[in-house]
Amino acid sequence: MKPVIALTKGRLEKQFLAFFESLGYDVEPLRDKGRKLQIETKEFSFFFAKGVDVTTYVENGIADIGVVGGDILVEHQPDVYNLFPLPFGHCRMALATKADYQWPGRKKRIASTFTRITKEYFKEKGESVDIIRLEGSVELAPILGLADAIVDIVETGTTLKENGLVIEDEFFSFSARLIANRSSLKIKRDQLVPVIERFKEGVKQG
Ligand code: PRP
Repeated sequence: MKPVIALTKGRLEKQFLAFFESLGYDVEPLRDKGRKLQIETKEFSFFFAKGVDVTTYVENGIADIGVVGGDILVEHQPDVYNLFPLPFGHCRMALATKADYQWPGRKKRIASTFTRITKEYFKEKGESVDIIRLEGSVELAPILGLADAIVDIVETGTTLKENGLVIEDEFFSFSARLIANRSSLKIKRDQLVPVIERFKEGVKQG
């Protein structure tokens, strides 16, 4: 059976494709995948899922290896081998709010999808805040008055800019990472180690 690779849908997809092609693998079937969620290439079986679900599939051994943002690993702490950073998907975690925002005297309300990261960030600052969990488009929260600020990932900064928000603090930089299922690495060692080594070579050159 071919190694199974879980890929994060969305922003990492294109960047992964360019990196994977640079390793010399067959990428043609991945290029025009349309809305398909599973793709077979000569060497691998791929499937596409949301970042956090990639970790679930890898943790449960449905995928042998996975490509996921470092933010997801810190937030969800899955039981997988966190192998090494990949040379794409560079983002920062930031605290952002409305330009010239007057912080209220009361306890701050912070909206985020990354509640664990937000909690840790404010704990380190010794500040107690109320965290409001949102699933996406968190930039809306300070604009609509649900929260005072957000903790979210920033890549180009365009989303913040176009919604009139500014960065108050940046506190964690990360990129995409290669992860692996713990048992797969033992059972399918002969098959997976050469693949992982090839990724590693690509990282050195990238
Ligand atoms: C992420 C993040 C920001 C945006 C930042 O959202 O939550 O909204 O990307 O990127 P930028 O700095 O390049 O503008 P994503 O597109 O992953 O979707 P989401 O809003 O559903 O989380």
